[in-house]
Amino acid sequence: MRMVALLAVAALLGASACGSIDDDALAPDTVEVFTWWAEGGEKAGLDALVSRFGTDCPGQRFENGAVAGGAGVNAKQELTQRMARHDPPDTFQAHAGAEMTDYIDAGQVEDLTAYYDSWGLRDVLPSGLVEDLTVNGKIFSIPANIHRANVVWTNPAVLADAGITAPPKDLATFVADLAKLKFAGVEAPLALGRDWTQLMLLEAVLISDLGPARFSGLFTGDTDWRGTPVTKAINDFTVLLNYGNLDRDTLDWPQAERLLIDGKAGYQLMGDWEAADLTAKGFPGYGWFAFPGNGKAFQWLADSFTLSTGASNRTGTECWLKTVGSAAGQQAFNAAKGSIPARTDIVSTGYSPYQQSAMADWKSATPVPSCAHGSACSQPWQSAVNAALRAYSTSRDPKTLQSALAEAANQFIRR
Ligand code: BGC
Repeated sequence: MRMVALLAVAALLGASACGSIDDDALAPDTVEVFTWWAEGGEKAGLDALVSRFGTDCPGQRFENGAVAGGAGVNAKQELTQRMARHDPPDTFQAHAGAEMTDYIDAGQVEDLTAYYDSWGLRDVLPSGLVEDLTVNGKIFSIPANIHRANVVWTNPAVLADAGITAPPKDLATFVADLAKLKFAGVEAPLALGRDWTQLMLLEAVLISDLGPARFSGLFTGDTDWRGTPVTKAINDFTVLLNYGNLDRDTLDWPQAERLLIDGKAGYQLMGDWEAADLTAKGFPGYGWFAFPGNGKAFQWLADSFTLSTGASNRTGTECWLKTVGSAAGQQAFNAAKGSIPARTDIVSTGYSPYQQSAMADWKSATPVPSCAHGSACSQPWQSAVNAALRAYSTSRDPKTLQSALAEAANQFIRR
């Protein structure tokens, strides 16, 4: 975008291609930061980071390149188009893990390994996360946070009206509680949204039915997508879908969340950006529990920031990245975003009760990755799975869904 703007200014000045423009006049002092954090708790998180950037990086200006749409569904498409026309933002949000490898393989991001050393990041980030970020000995992004995907959010008043006072201990109890809500007159007890949010639900059910190790194996080739446990998980997933709103395929996550806030649903499975968003939308009295049957599995994902190859403002972007990785940056950003700091040296004081519980869980839990949010699978793989779920939402043909999931794994797994 900025490149286009500069060319337009050059044209207005009548500058020739041989460089009669005063370089200083056009000196880039803005850093275009590309995310999908456009409203609610997501925007609050971004604002907190930008405010820190203002303090840390005098002379640099933040330019908001956000493209709205949960899980980056629209942003990623726009980013692909911008990359293709050699107009990348200076830095963009990308998930740690498999999703980053797409950009690395395409040479679209620069090696940031030297910053890890000069900013002391290896001493303050979990070694497992640094490993997940390392590709052929190099690291290409700076993580801002750890989000948890496998959380169910509740409207306590709706549950109390149906006589539900405790979190369900397993999947069967969860289904029984959904039935209680339905009986009490709640038409769609489980708030559901479009494809990728349904993938999150399927993943949570898979964690319960397969256990953390075999679930993780689905993305490494160690667990067979055609196996009976996956068949069972698809059946359990379908039971849950039947307790949801019929317009699910047309709703993004904040619209599904609205059903919860308005008391039209009792539960929603969603990542913990919802904690910040419920607060931002005036509903701080929410309840939460880890998805029933997930035990101590913490389904993690991490938003990280890159330095685009060919970034217009390298100095400013380095400063942005330093802020992202800094203690003060992570403290401010995560308090507002609902996630927890990726850094291990941040105290939990000042964080919400939900976040304090997530910080404690992260220390002792079993980490499992997320396909819906890029830590487990690459973008083409994720798109194939989302397409299979869109088809399933109307066809309800479990065999076709299972073979589509197996074929996607077969096609995209990196061995
Ligand atoms: C991102 C979160 C974001 C969520 C919903 C996830 O993929 O990692 O930062 O809040 O999508 O948009």
